[in-house]
Amino acid sequence: MKPEKITIRSLQEKKINKKKITMLTAYDYPMARLVDDAGIDIILVGDSLGMVVLGYDSTLPVTMEDMIRHTQAVRRGTKHALLVGDMPYKSYDTKEAAIANAKRFMEEAGCDAVKLEGGTESLEAAEIILNSGIPVMGHLGLTPQSIEKLGGFKVQGKTAEAAKAIIEDSKKLEKVGCFSIVLECVPSAIAKIITAEVKVPTIGIGAGVDCDGQVLVTNDMVGLFDRFVPKFVKQYIKLAPQILEGLLAYKKEVEDGKFPAEEHAFTIKQEELKKI
Ligand code: KIV
Repeated sequence: MKPEKITIRSLQEKKINKKKITMLTAYDYPMARLVDDAGIDIILVGDSLGMVVLGYDSTLPVTMEDMIRHTQAVRRGTKHALLVGDMPYKSYDTKEAAIANAKRFMEEAGCDAVKLEGGTESLEAAEIILNSGIPVMGHLGLTPQSIEKLGGFKVQGKTAEAAKAIIEDSKKLEKVGCFSIVLECVPSAIAKIITAEVKVPTIGIGAGVDCDGQVLVTNDMVGLFDRFVPKFVKQYIKLAPQILEGLLAYKKEVEDGKFPAEEHAFTIKQEELKKI
């Protein structure tokens, strides 16, 4: 049975019916096809692209051009999932940039929605994008684009004051009309409170089991990116060593003259060969 096309409405119904929402990232066509075939509800072209695909130390160098190119590839591989484009660093720091760049995700890359990071400081950007009819997903807690301000990849909301600020921000994002909120690296108890207090679905990453859904960076959970593995990541498969094994076998067979074998080569009729 083919999975239905996921919509913002169907995600909200999942929250109401207490059905968990699944979300994963993808950055290219083949992975998008696999994630979509697995029936995952939301595919995020995350700016984690910068770290797990482009090899940067943070998400900050990722540009709109990077995001549009990769999102277009993911769009070609996505049929059923809701496709969300992640607005990169500084792409929504003015009203004009926010609206122009959100439109690019929708018009040039075929997204269903965009995501942006931050609470109070990003409300104006979220509101102006929403007012133009583009659905917005919020992102609170550990927001990697503010990594310098946050002092590193650290759990957020560990004090009552910090937790209250995240709870307040989640309500503000809901009030301006965000259709969902990612909660990254916040204590499970805080994510549980937010999930109970907002009507829109919460999607957790390092935020415990009580969120309405879960998201992971696909390259982390399939073991393709192992420069470091955050505590909240579960590696369901370890692809990197399997790929390495294949690459080493290829190298050896080429060096030993065993590859290509007859079945990988093409022939020409003897009479044609003789004419040369
Ligand atoms: O960029 C990303 O992949 C993200 C997810 C971790 C939510 O923002």
